[in-house]
Amino acid sequence: MKQKIQDSWEQIQVLDSLVGNDYLLVSTDRSLVSYAVMTHQLDSIRPIVWQDDHLELLDQRILPTEYQFISYTDVHAVADAIRDMVVRGAPAIGITAAYGVVLAARKRYAESAGNWLSAIQEDFEYLAASRPTAVNLFWAIERMKQCCTNIKGDPEPRLLQEAHAILQEDIAANYRMGELGASLIDAGSSVLTHCNAGALATGGYGTALGVIRSAYSQGKITEVHADETRPWMQGARLTAWELLQEGISVELNTDGAAAWLMKQGKVQWVIVGSDRIAANGDVANKIGTYNLAVLAKHHGVKFMVAAPTSTIDMSVASGEDIPIESRDTAEILSLGGQRLAAEGAGAWNPVFDVTPAELVDAIVTEKGIIEKPNLSKVKQLMSD
Ligand code: MRU
Repeated sequence: MKQKIQDSWEQIQVLDSLVGNDYLLVSTDRSLVSYAVMTHQLDSIRPIVWQDDHLELLDQRILPTEYQFISYTDVHAVADAIRDMVVRGAPAIGITAAYGVVLAARKRYAESAGNWLSAIQEDFEYLAASRPTAVNLFWAIERMKQCCTNIKGDPEPRLLQEAHAILQEDIAANYRMGELGASLIDAGSSVLTHCNAGALATGGYGTALGVIRSAYSQGKITEVHADETRPWMQGARLTAWELLQEGISVELNTDGAAAWLMKQGKVQWVIVGSDRIAANGDVANKIGTYNLAVLAKHHGVKFMVAAPTSTIDMSVASGEDIPIESRDTAEILSLGGQRLAAEGAGAWNPVFDVTPAELVDAIVTEKGIIEKPNLSKVKQLMSD
């Protein structure tokens, strides 16, 4: 299919839902054309899909062995899917919760057209209890809550429109971050990423992997390294799969090999996503990110965090106030359902850590880049 598009980010946003590899963007602005074509060439993955009247989530627990979507029509099942990691990654969790609110509203309105708004409050709480660290979850629930208050009659059409908007805005933000982040990277660079901050963790294209996609398209990246990312192996299972889908080669290393990799001069940029950024620029992300930031500083490697402004939580002064999720120790003591650790061993399983702002070279958002982040720079960006 070929379609003409006039110059404007808004139109690209709206039309993104139609974009496929057989889709040609035509614009009179050459930079926009090449940008749009470039981005969409490496943009084949969508983990969250609204299909007719229900939500479909790509089951990320079984990737890459199996590629399977699960259908959802019930908000509790959606919240459970977030908690159980069917869907994961901060922006993806927020988008999923937004669609969960649509399903909740449909049920509550069918039960009682006059009382749905009060009844749905319980569903907001159930969704909010699914995972504590990614602030995008609470951001999306709040946005959907606000939307609910202005609705007359059947809430589903309006809420569905809002959930679609959250999804589309996320993808547009990722395109923009990809472009901005790539501008920081010199040609001939090798990069290291952690966990999965890709299309799978967002509406599409990804944050950290969006930057890698864009820089790779521009021919700037020679090698992509990825930490395995214990214990859920998001690097080995998801990041490796995602990059290979796009034809981008990737070399995995154990989390413990990162220092040695840097010591060999094999990494110029560490590029990661975030689950929550505090007002002072401290960054919560997958456990092991802080290790990388310390190592990067020691080896003179640059450290980039790519995250939409929906990940910035101005109500949290510093990383000390970010709630860090602890998950079942079985995730460490076992692997693939098989007991791994010595019987009797205990385990500690915080799944996120906080990287202090002073170890971060750049936070890349859709609104712009904050170099050497601090409170006043983050405040400035958020008020723009
Ligand atoms: O436990 P997960 O897989 O949800 O953790 C995901 C991460 O830590 C990502 O790096 C983060 O959410 C950013 S995703 C764009």
